[in-house]
Amino acid sequence: MEKRKLTVASFRKMKANQEKIVMVTAYDAPGAAIAAAAGVEILLVGDSLAMTALGYENTLPLTLEESLHHAAAVRRGAPEAFVVGDMPFLSYQLDMNEAVRNAGRYIKEARCDAVKLEGGSEIVPLVEKLVRTGIPVMAHVGLMPQHIQTAGGYRVAGKTQDEAQRLLDEVQAFEQAGAFAVVLECIPARVAERISSAVAIPTIGIGAGSCTDGQVQVCNDLLGLFDRFVPKHAKRYCNLREVMLKAFSDYVKDVKEQKFPTEENSF
Ligand code: KIV
Repeated sequence: MEKRKLTVASFRKMKANQEKIVMVTAYDAPGAAIAAAAGVEILLVGDSLAMTALGYENTLPLTLEESLHHAAAVRRGAPEAFVVGDMPFLSYQLDMNEAVRNAGRYIKEARCDAVKLEGGSEIVPLVEKLVRTGIPVMAHVGLMPQHIQTAGGYRVAGKTQDEAQRLLDEVQAFEQAGAFAVVLECIPARVAERISSAVAIPTIGIGAGSCTDGQVQVCNDLLGLFDRFVPKHAKRYCNLREVMLKAFSDYVKDVKEQKFPTEENSF
């Protein structure tokens, strides 16, 4: 049976049916194709692209053009997947019309299904405008990597009662504004549980415990491509770096020892 294309309505239904939603980041066509074939329901072209694929130190330098370039590749690799483009720092914070135009490029040029925006109450009017324009929005609260300079680093959010209440208020405001889902990044599990049960839109957690309506992971963490450490919120499902290192080393050895190419590889 052919798999049905998922829509924003599918995710709300999955939450109502208590079916967990699975999201993972993807940055290129082959990665997207493999994740989609494995049954991942949402491919996020995260701005983590900046560090995972482009060699930047954090997400801040990523440009709109770089993000769109990779979002289009993800779409080509997974034509049927639900793809979310993560809008980079300063591509939506400056001016409402520019933000709508930039968000629209993810839909028109990269053929994404939705965009994701980091932020709190200050972006609620923008979320409302985007949704009224016809652009589905996934919000992102909690630890927001685009705010590391003001936050003083990567910090768990929502640890005090006031902060937890603010997060809940923000997520409810995003629901009112029409966001179809919200990412909760690095917040205490009990806070994420309270938020998840207070809204009808799905919450997608990363470092937010097991009671969110879905989970998202950065594919490089999951695949073991990031070798310096395993973040507390991640689980390494394989060690692709080791596999790649061995393959490249074997290739080097074979060429040096004139074991490759053989007759079989020659014309
Ligand atoms: O950019 C990203 O990968 C993200 C996820 C961690 C949610 O925003």
